[in-house]
Amino acid sequence: MLSQQQWRFPGEEIVINGQRYTIDTWLNAQQCERHQVYAATRADGLKAAVKFYPWSARAMPYAYQHTWTHLGRERDVSRQCVLEWSARQDDCPFLVKLLGRAQVWRGQRWQWCLATELVAGIPAEAYLKQKQYEEGALLRFAAGVADTLAQWHNGGVAHGDPHLGNVMVNGMGEAYQVTFIDYNNVHHPHFYYCQRFHCFTAYRPYEADLANDYGVFGEGFRTSLASLPVPLGLGQRLLEAFDDHYHAARR
Ligand SMILES: Nc1ncnc2c1ncn2[C@@H]1O[C@H](COP(=O)(O)OP(=O)(O)OP(=O)(O)O)[C@@H](O)[C@H]1O
Ligand SMILES: [Mg+2]
Repeated sequence: MLSQQQWRFPGEEIVINGQRYTIDTWLNAQQCERHQVYAATRADGLKAAVKFYPWSARAMPYAYQHTWTHLGRERDVSRQCVLEWSARQDDCPFLVKLLGRAQVWRGQRWQWCLATELVAGIPAEAYLKQKQYEEGALLRFAAGVADTLAQWHNGGVAHGDPHLGNVMVNGMGEAYQVTFIDYNNVHHPHFYYCQRFHCFTAYRPYEADLANDYGVFGEGFRTSLASLPVPLGLGQRLLEAFDDHYHAARR
């Protein structure tokens, strides 16, 4: 558990890439995650999400011998990941816009943080609770995630850990937007560590985004949909909606 010293308070200011940000609210206070994420406002008014890391940035990802790939937790704030993520920003509009990373002094130590554009909406977990057992909404959600994941894969990027906590849903009703957040385990064939660990041949990250048999970093999105507690018969239809949309959108 993190000490109170490390919590940020509304009105507190930090500087990232020479820009001043004011902390607004704590976004994942209910989730007790390792990383604290806050909504913040940049001096020019832009709304941001600022993620704080409990330990140092692990610029060097872990290597798991049994998967022969590179997976890690603090990778998204590492210099390498930030550079590679920024470089793809123009080609990949589905990626959340990265605003910068910084080490900021808090209490008695330096802490890494990462600022991204604030994604409107709510995490899918909360969304599904609100809409529990509402068939149309669940099917639209499955289709929306499938379309978004296919877009990622068409753009060459694998998310690496797509689950209900890493998806934001914006807008209710017919037209809503699904956005993946949390890029700890992002893969692309041009990324330095993907090449070094040959992960596109050894690990197959696109398939692992759907169903992950490797036993590390999630089970894959299709598998997490299959384990949602929904009424009898609907689970299968959710998977069908997901598969139909994914395959129709995947090039
Ligand atoms: N760009 C963003 N816009 C809006 N909310 C965000 C954004 N990034 C994160 N959040 C909020 O913070 C929560 C946690 O974010 P994130 O998934 O990046 O961290 P985490 O799950 O603690 O990290 P990890 O899975 O790497 O341990 C999300 O569920 C969401 O509520
Ligand atoms: Mg997460």
